[in-house]
Amino acid sequence: MAIDRHVIGNWKMNIPADGVENFVRDLRGVRWSDACRLSIAPPYPFIAEARDRAAELRLPLSFAAQNCSDHASGAYTGEVSASMIALAGGSMVIVGHSERREIYGEDDELVGLKLRAAVEAGLIPVLCVGESMEIRERDGVAGFLEQQLVRALGGLSFSERNLLIAYEPIWAIGTGRNASGDMVAETAGWIRRTLASMRPGLDELPLLYGGSVTEMNARELMREADVDGFLVGGASLEPEKVKAIYEACASGR
Ligand code: PGA
Repeated sequence: MAIDRHVIGNWKMNIPADGVENFVRDLRGVRWSDACRLSIAPPYPFIAEARDRAAELRLPLSFAAQNCSDHASGAYTGEVSASMIALAGGSMVIVGHSERREIYGEDDELVGLKLRAAVEAGLIPVLCVGESMEIRERDGVAGFLEQQLVRALGGLSFSERNLLIAYEPIWAIGTGRNASGDMVAETAGWIRRTLASMRPGLDELPLLYGGSVTEMNARELMREADVDGFLVGGASLEPEKVKAIYEACASGR
């Protein structure tokens, strides 16, 4: 069976309260499904450690980085290349997260360069798009997301297998205020139409929702929102919550 659902835990600049080793160990009780992949995105220095612990326990976990350089190598102090992430055990990388865009000034052009670097290194990028509350209030969401997608993806050739899209409304991230299932379904429809207009078939890319996803709302979002999984921030630091969100995603709809 093809993997068509994903849960990705974005630890941001945090480590779980009980440490990386215990976090991975606590995932032993997960009811794994061949249809749903669970990935963890720790800060760079912990990717290899988490990968090694999961391998020892034979857990089918995947690993992602939260960012990568737009360059392959060279004099870029403080940067980490996509191929280094792959060497550390990562198979995915989150690109264009709104915290990178807002706090570090990443624009769509840089996001596009990072996407290209990721694909060239054999990583699967998870492209984040999402609007502010101000844009939603003036009914500008469809146009804004179209612009983010076209600018970041234009000129690159992706297949359905080597890219994921995460819709993360900025106002829902870390606020405890998730978008409603209806709202996510409507927005996912706009995103899929934009992708199809860029290239037929691209609308079949896995589309995730992110923004205050918890063990309490995952099942309902899965059923109502027409999404293929979740990008989870705060709740991803707690193994019990990760387990519940993963199982809701794997069995949902
Ligand atoms: P949150 O973060 O789940 O804490 O809202 C989501 C994200 O930033 O990816």
